[in-house]
Amino acid sequence: MSETRAIPRHVAIIMDGNGRWAKQRNKERYEGHIAGVESVRAAVRAAARCGVEWLTLYAFSTENWGRPTAEVDAIMELFCRTVMGEAEDLVRQGVRVKVMGERTRFSEEVLRMIERIESVTAEGRRLTLVLAFNYSARREMVLAARALAERVASGELRAEDIDEADFADALMSRGIPDPDFVIRTSGECRLSNFLLWQSSYAELYFPEVLWPDFGEEEFERAMEEYARRERRYGLVTEE
Ligand code: FPP
Repeated sequence: MSETRAIPRHVAIIMDGNGRWAKQRNKERYEGHIAGVESVRAAVRAAARCGVEWLTLYAFSTENWGRPTAEVDAIMELFCRTVMGEAEDLVRQGVRVKVMGERTRFSEEVLRMIERIESVTAEGRRLTLVLAFNYSARREMVLAARALAERVASGELRAEDIDEADFADALMSRGIPDPDFVIRTSGECRLSNFLLWQSSYAELYFPEVLWPDFGEEEFERAMEEYARRERRYGLVTEE
């Protein structure tokens, strides 16, 4: 007997708990991030297999610059190393990578890696992996407001004509469908400045498991959880 179940088109994940995972094992925090990369691989594989079209991962928030320099450097290095090492495999899996965030404060090397991974994977059609890197939802909205204000000031747009579509188009997520399902690992129940506009109607899920322990099986469990949810978009539906 075959069964059809709802598959989220866009899954967005706040990868939380690397530091706690490391602490539980008397390891340094960066070792938690290294372990977290294996879960990034697992999430990409599982998302592609489940038929998810968009996967967004919160890899580095604008607030994360406030962490100790050694940890920030370790995450940047890990990002570059992972991007370099995974490029071929991502292409093979049909994964296109997009990096979403402000391209400021990065070293030349990180900027080069971002451009490289985006161009090498540009033809991927199976899954788009959006890496939110130096991303903050409030900052994104402030920049959108500024861009719209400039268009109004130049006479290209009338303030009273600005609608939700104009605002969405001014965000960094332009062209990316809104997430259907937002997951935050480690039991924390917050959105922490992640996709605040885009998640308006998303289903939210807060599994207890720490990010390095969130493997393919956990991803599939999350998909089952999504399939159980009923989405109404504020409407009342007749039975
Ligand atoms: C959150 O755990 C994790 C991060 C801020 C960094 C995530 C980065 C990676 C997994 C590596 C690079 C990513 C890619 C996509 C190659 P936390 O440190 O806040 O954990 P804690 O709350 O337990 O301290």
